Amino acid sequence: MSSCDPIIEVKNLYVNFYTYAGVVKAIDGVSFRICRGETYCLVGETGCGKSVTAKSLTRLIRSPGRIEKGSVIYYRDGKPVDLLKLGEEELRGIRGAEISYIFQDPSSSLDPLYTIGYQVAETMKEHGRVASIKEGIRRAVDILRTVLMPDPETRVKNYPHELSGGMKQRGVIGISLSNKPRLVIADEPTTALDATVQDQIMDLLKKLKAEEDLTVLLITHNMGLVADMCDRVAVMYAGRIVEEADVFELFANPKHPYTQALLRAVPNPMKRMDKLESIPGTVPNLIFPPSGCRFHPRCPFAMDICSRERPPDLEVAPGHRVACWLYTEHGGR
Ligand SMILES: Nc1ncnc2c1ncn2[C@@H]1O[C@H](COP(=O)(O)OP(=O)(O)OP(=O)(O)O)[C@@H](O)[C@H]1O
Ligand SMILES: [Mg+2]
Repeated sequence: MSSCDPIIEVKNLYVNFYTYAGVVKAIDGVSFRICRGETYCLVGETGCGKSVTAKSLTRLIRSPGRIEKGSVIYYRDGKPVDLLKLGEEELRGIRGAEISYIFQDPSSSLDPLYTIGYQVAETMKEHGRVASIKEGIRRAVDILRTVLMPDPETRVKNYPHELSGGMKQRGVIGISLSNKPRLVIADEPTTALDATVQDQIMDLLKKLKAEEDLTVLLITHNMGLVADMCDRVAVMYAGRIVEEADVFELFANPKHPYTQALLRAVPNPMKRMDKLESIPGTVPNLIFPPSGCRFHPRCPFAMDICSRERPPDLEVAPGHRVACWLYTEHGGR
């Protein structure tokens, strides 16, 4: 393990949603840190809390959601700032500029009423990188060229409906990169696109990462992408991180029964995975989450203690942690 110069550090994060049906305990004590320059992956089944975690980092959680507890320490020019305590004004200066997002569906990230060039320009103007929209639109051509938009001089004048899905996502990535962010949070950036375009967008992210000195938080349910893109991986289950390791270590030596099941569900890690149908049972309802280890009702190795107490985070090898009773004196592994 090389040493880690952290860019962001999430500590003991709790997020609830107050719905009519009850309180959804969506994020339940999540901690992790991302090192400068790496691609860190959050992986897990639908509803496990990947997007809520991502949005919580810059307080994008809206009502009925509430961040209950925790801290998100962002190292801004080496100085730690807790983004959960920062004033809204100051946070807005960071969000979209130093920390930017790429979401799953490019259509919903773009405004249908404005050209792609205008939207790049507007983001830059908002963060003071250009003095006028006119100057921004000129710069937008270069940005679109960087994200390998075909014929950027023409495309800059196009409205979103005039672009293909892949071009739209290139536009979104262009907007996201226009302020030279330090950390890019890509939440299932290719799920809405067809397979060939997915590969192109992933190649683009790799290229940009190499050129622009970026740190990436990549969210996916696709183990093939994890293998292809990530340096380190956190596996989420029902609002918690159950395992975290270097990508090679995780694939070679998965410890948590959930990770093992995830990997068995994709015998070939390079194969794309849309559903994890081979894991018996379903993701629990987070209004009434299982007691103890949230995975215990689906776990083939569950012991008494698993339904009673939350498992501790154990470091089973350098940089490899797992939250599972099997690796304590109770499990004897
Ligand atoms: N606005 C909301 N109101 C109520 N519950 C919510 C809301 N947004 C998220 N949740 C709940 O929070 C939990 C985590 O959701 P999240 O969107 O983070 O999952 P995810 O891992 O990103 O899933 P997917 O892979 O489908 O994107 C889920 O149980 C979800 O139902
Ligand atoms: Mg999501």
